[in-house]
Amino acid sequence: MVERFYIKGGTPLKGEVQIGGAKNSVLKLMAAAILAKGESKIYNVPDLTDVEIMLSVIAQLGAKTSYNKEEKSLTIDATDITNVTASYELVSKMRASFIVLGALVSRCKEARVALPGGCAIGERRVDFHIRGLEALGAKIKIESGYVHAKASKLVGSDVYLDIPSVGATENIMLASVLAEGSTRIQNAAQEPEIVDLANFLNTMGADISGAGTSEIIINGVKHSDLHPIEYTTIPDRIEAGTFMTAIIATKGKGIIKNIYPAHLTFFTDKLLKMGANIKLLDPTSMEVSCKNRLNSINFVTQPYPGFPTDLQSMAMTLLTTANGVGIITESLYENRFMQVPDLNRMGADIHQDRNHAIIKGVKKLSGAILTASDLRAGASLVVAALMADGNSVVEKLHHIDRGYENFESKIRLLGGKIERKNEDSPSNLTEGTHNESYL
Ligand code: EPU
Repeated sequence: MVERFYIKGGTPLKGEVQIGGAKNSVLKLMAAAILAKGESKIYNVPDLTDVEIMLSVIAQLGAKTSYNKEEKSLTIDATDITNVTASYELVSKMRASFIVLGALVSRCKEARVALPGGCAIGERRVDFHIRGLEALGAKIKIESGYVHAKASKLVGSDVYLDIPSVGATENIMLASVLAEGSTRIQNAAQEPEIVDLANFLNTMGADISGAGTSEIIINGVKHSDLHPIEYTTIPDRIEAGTFMTAIIATKGKGIIKNIYPAHLTFFTDKLLKMGANIKLLDPTSMEVSCKNRLNSINFVTQPYPGFPTDLQSMAMTLLTTANGVGIITESLYENRFMQVPDLNRMGADIHQDRNHAIIKGVKKLSGAILTASDLRAGASLVVAALMADGNSVVEKLHHIDRGYENFESKIRLLGGKIERKNEDSPSNLTEGTHNESYL
């Protein structure tokens, strides 16, 4: 069976949408929960395949886990961590699970975690993670595709990151929570998810300051100082940015609820420059609308607080029909323009040269059969299909399901014409025809 979205474009999205908890935060909070003995509870946990995979990884280590779909809460009882190996079978399904390396070394002084390898969007090395752990005194061997880290004790140290890597900052933070003395991470990542992880760990009894700046100090505490906690995950800024884009792209008007607008400042600023209307309604909601054709802009993706790479494909979709020419430079990943061929098949005029994309705005896109190649490229094609004339089919939905909870239900609540079908035959959309009948 193949799952597909059938989308009829051209309906302005209108209404309200509730944003869920941040995928890229909750995965790290789950790893952090194994540091303290006892049962921690995390709220605002989205029901995503990535969360499911992380639950399997944590369970493999010996923790007892359960997810409550109605309450969107997760309990992790880490009284006993009986295994220090995270298998290739699981880590290869989701590279973010590599984060258990720091937590295991911290708590058990040993970890065997499969190397995740590259992925569709780039090489995605883990050398900074490993160098950081070595600086704390861990002895690391790479054997048979696994990182084997061992330490009789970890001692705080200065760690300088060549790039403010999100994952490396998090792994080093986790590893140093129980180290002897102080660790200073310089050129640390400043993403809101890093602040969320530091807040989680501090609530648990850790001593971390500076999260959200480029220098983070972790003063080691004793294991007996840590205790299980209850904690609520921050909202997903990338899901919020995706819905802002979808509303603007379809010339709609909607309210994005349960967000922290400050986490989206750079993206919001660019949308305003393009001509969208964005109004802060209260501290956790924004109204977004757009009536006229947007203007083109140029931007470079950068670590937070710069333009988020995870929203680059959404902005590209907006630029396809904007007035003028826009240039995007992708500075974080080698291969994050995978939506380009499909956007061009819809009638866009995009020329890609290595990590630059030149987008000449056209009047309109038209529906086509599209393939999600990764999570964010896939979501941006759904947005493109919603704004296009005619019908589209989007395939390989498992990529989108990794990071968007109830994506099509939320779009439908805003009036978008989208349906998920589970089929054992080729899609019944014939490109180049109107196909009015299937929705
Ligand atoms: N890098 C290295 N060596 C390292 C670590 C990173 O060369 O040891 C490079 C990477 O290859 C990449 C750049 O540094 O080119 C940035 O990578 P970073 O470590 O910051 O990214 P990450 O932690 O692997 C997280 C998010 C990504 C998001 C990036 C950047 C999670 C689970 N993933 O990845 O989210 O794009 O930060 O903001 O937190 C997504 O949600 O679709 C997604 C890919």
